[in-house]
Amino acid sequence: MANNNRGSFSSKFGAIAAIAGSAVGLGNIWKFPYVAGENGGAAFLLIYIGITLLISIPVLLAEFSIGRHGQGNAFRSFVNMTGKKGWGAIGILELLGAIFVLASYCVIAGWSLEYIMRSVMGGFHGMTQTQMDVQFDMFVASGWRPIVWMVVFLIINSGVLGMGVTKGIERCSKFMIPALFCILVMLAGVNLWQPGFQEGAAFILKPNWSAVSGHTVLAALGQSFFSLSIGMAAMITYGSYIQRQESLNGVGVIVSLATVLMAILAGLAIFPSVFSYGIEPTKGADLVFKTLPPLFAELPGGYFISILFFILLFFAALTTSLSIMESLVAFFSEELHIKRVWALAIGFAIILISSTLCAMSQMPDSHILVGGETLFDWTDKFCSAYILPLGGLACVILVGWFVPHHVVEHELTSSGKTPLWIYKFIVFMMKYICPVVIIILLVNCILDYFGVDMIAALMSLIH
Ligand code: PFF
Repeated sequence: MANNNRGSFSSKFGAIAAIAGSAVGLGNIWKFPYVAGENGGAAFLLIYIGITLLISIPVLLAEFSIGRHGQGNAFRSFVNMTGKKGWGAIGILELLGAIFVLASYCVIAGWSLEYIMRSVMGGFHGMTQTQMDVQFDMFVASGWRPIVWMVVFLIINSGVLGMGVTKGIERCSKFMIPALFCILVMLAGVNLWQPGFQEGAAFILKPNWSAVSGHTVLAALGQSFFSLSIGMAAMITYGSYIQRQESLNGVGVIVSLATVLMAILAGLAIFPSVFSYGIEPTKGADLVFKTLPPLFAELPGGYFISILFFILLFFAALTTSLSIMESLVAFFSEELHIKRVWALAIGFAIILISSTLCAMSQMPDSHILVGGETLFDWTDKFCSAYILPLGGLACVILVGWFVPHHVVEHELTSSGKTPLWIYKFIVFMMKYICPVVIIILLVNCILDYFGVDMIAALMSLIH
């Protein structure tokens, strides 16, 4: 059953770096700080941390357990864990999600490469917001340029993966995650002297309980799952590389807290500048590629700050993309019984095609639309709203209800080293609480699709 020739993370730090590398991505840098700010700052952070500890970590541990016990790619681990091929369908669904997420991720990572180059070639000093808007929109609409950068990014990604799990993924993450942390600390440090520092820090760190509603909890839940790369094959695949003697609980908690810390630092690196110029905070591509560059250029050492910021974005995207592409590589190499390099070639081809379509869907008059949206926007929304919760739900149900207790206990107590009550608590959450909470999230996403606000509907029922 187990394939002993598979790679593995050689140390606990290596495992944590690689898994944190998957978790800390664009979601943490350009989305989390904004969502936190809009939803009550520290109030949101507290809810987020609570949800992460109580709900997301059990789901993450279910994925790790399936991977480590199943000792295979996302599909094979489900089959090995249950002895039934049918469960493998969930693995396939997660792998499809991985393809969708990576398709748009590579395009954005390509943008970060373009902006590293633009920063190096002279920066954004003196540019107005309108000029930045036009420049970015023209770049994205040009079609071929984002595609070239996306291909460059894919080549870098494949270069790292080609070196294998230990020498490629682990070594790269061991360098990039501390580097990412240092860049964030530096950027936040420079912002300390900004006139808008207090306002920026208050935006994400001051509790505002009046902004908290049912939507806040759902936003925290969705963000927490996305941040921890749940439901899209990556954590099952990486779980299969964690060595037996490592504590899954320890790895899960450290990675989750590191992810929150990085997101807070990202907020402190971004929002003081935004508030110093009296600009409304935004999120996503607009924030990173339009709003921030000219603001950073005004900071002391602005030329270098812009370069560092886009390197940060590139590192975050690269370590995340490694986990997603690795899920595909492990799947093709193990299921087709081919060498890693050929599996990588197949993964490369699939992502090349899907990312090219995503990039092209953003060109003016593009017909690459799904449900009226560009393919680029649709992939992200579809995965976050449906595949992610479905994948997570299947994992907790499987581990909580179907896998024999001694197997789960063995995985989650590190063969008896972790106190039994912790294990019992995690299993209780997996069995009863996580499924209910995830189903609520899923129903909310489905209702949202039909334009129904679930929280508002519930409130009107109660009153
Ligand atoms: N955790 C990543 C982020 O926050 O940007 C997103 C992600 C990565 C989602 C890998 C899913 C995945 F499989």
